[in-house]
Amino acid sequence: MAVTDTATTTTTTPTLPAHPDPDTDRILDSGLLHELSHAFDGPFHFLLPHRFDANLAAFRTTLTDAGVEGRVYYAKKANKAAVWTERCATHQAGVDVASAGELREALGHGVRGENIVVTGPAKSDELLRLALLQGCLVAVDALDELDLLLTLALTGTVRPARLLLRRLPSVQPHSRFGMNDAELETALDRCLRAGDAVRMEGFSFHLSGYATQPRADLADELIDLCLQARLLGLQADRISIGGGFAVDYSAADHWHTFLTEQQPAHFHAQKAFRARDFYPYHSPVAGADALRTILASTPEGGRHTLAERLRDTGTMLMLEPGRALLAGAGSTVFRVQGVKERAGYRIVTVDGTSLSLSEQWFNSEYLPDPQLVTPAGRVHGTPDAEVHPACVGGASCLESDLVTWRKVPFPARPRVGDLLVYPNTAGYQMDSNESPFHDLPLPPKVVMDRLGERPRWRLDRRPPC
Ligand SMILES: Cc1ncc(COP(=O)(O)O)c(C=O)c1O
Repeated sequence: MAVTDTATTTTTTPTLPAHPDPDTDRILDSGLLHELSHAFDGPFHFLLPHRFDANLAAFRTTLTDAGVEGRVYYAKKANKAAVWTERCATHQAGVDVASAGELREALGHGVRGENIVVTGPAKSDELLRLALLQGCLVAVDALDELDLLLTLALTGTVRPARLLLRRLPSVQPHSRFGMNDAELETALDRCLRAGDAVRMEGFSFHLSGYATQPRADLADELIDLCLQARLLGLQADRISIGGGFAVDYSAADHWHTFLTEQQPAHFHAQKAFRARDFYPYHSPVAGADALRTILASTPEGGRHTLAERLRDTGTMLMLEPGRALLAGAGSTVFRVQGVKERAGYRIVTVDGTSLSLSEQWFNSEYLPDPQLVTPAGRVHGTPDAEVHPACVGGASCLESDLVTWRKVPFPARPRVGDLLVYPNTAGYQMDSNESPFHDLPLPPKVVMDRLGERPRWRLDRRPPC
């Protein structure tokens, strides 16, 4: 939906409202966020663990409905909070880790080693050693990594090394991850030679993007690889299809209108973004529904659905959703620290930096509209009312530190002391790029355990003693 900027200019400013979320609105209306902003004296994130539980349950139900034996591993890189790994431990779900630090965190919050899959390229000696000791499953990315893992297993006292072999996808031949046909053949040979020092449990991939059919096609290919490996005498009874289950942030009409209308004049400093660099903020098929679609798809050239193939071949399906398990599971709160005028819009400066909401790795920005919460409460927009466009700057001395380059059409003039609440930020936005630049403290995370009239909160981690 485009709204006319009657406040100060005649151009239109596109808006991208997030899907309505009554739980988040209740928190926004409770008055608690202003208290927390005062207490922390800086930005913070709030987390909704019941959403994580519901997303996990939806993935599991989808597997059950399809009659497929499967396991869900939370891709920990998507958010560092302890509460998610605690939820995984409670629900006996798995965790996908990609560093020794992430592995220690998962173990420390009660996830058993056998429920951990270790992904990522060129894993360090330390990470492989720890994975071996804890009985984790290692998704091997390259031959030299396989050699290191096998050496550790053959020379140490702990065995076997549990592993998957990661496939370089033919649909993404320029990916820096995974092994090609020849490398996989060599890897299988080395696994065979390693005897009982190794348990070759199957194959894996992770695809960029969110398309479902390529995932079904590649999963089918991995099942064939498993069948070949079984003929060689290897276990090969599971495949991992990685993550990449889309999150649906906004309604289709809002998103398509936004894409059609957005132009440099709508952004501070005429900044131009390429539409293809934006995350697809609307997805008709998202989260567990994407898994349902993948399972119901017939892989290219086949006659059976992926679910049927998994069942018929006795192959277990592993998945590693990050963003999708965190859908709707948190928001980010900044306080307005300054407001200045520019021709036709304002620059609002908040008490944190864009590194706490970042899309900059992707040459992009986080688009769902922030909500304006004044000390008197949430400000509601009405269709034909005046709007007050403002971009949102970070509290650093960098020209490029814009939390939002877009001139967001706020329903009221933002004032110092108001809060800007960015919705649905738990998946990657909160902390993947966070930095204590300028000695600014990292935003704390607050867990909302119980909603009700007066939400109950606690810190995700206790402050150090
Ligand atoms: C191997 C692997 N698994 C899982 C994920 C999680 O992806 P997403 O958060 O899109 O589900 C990633 C993301 O980079 C990955 O590389």
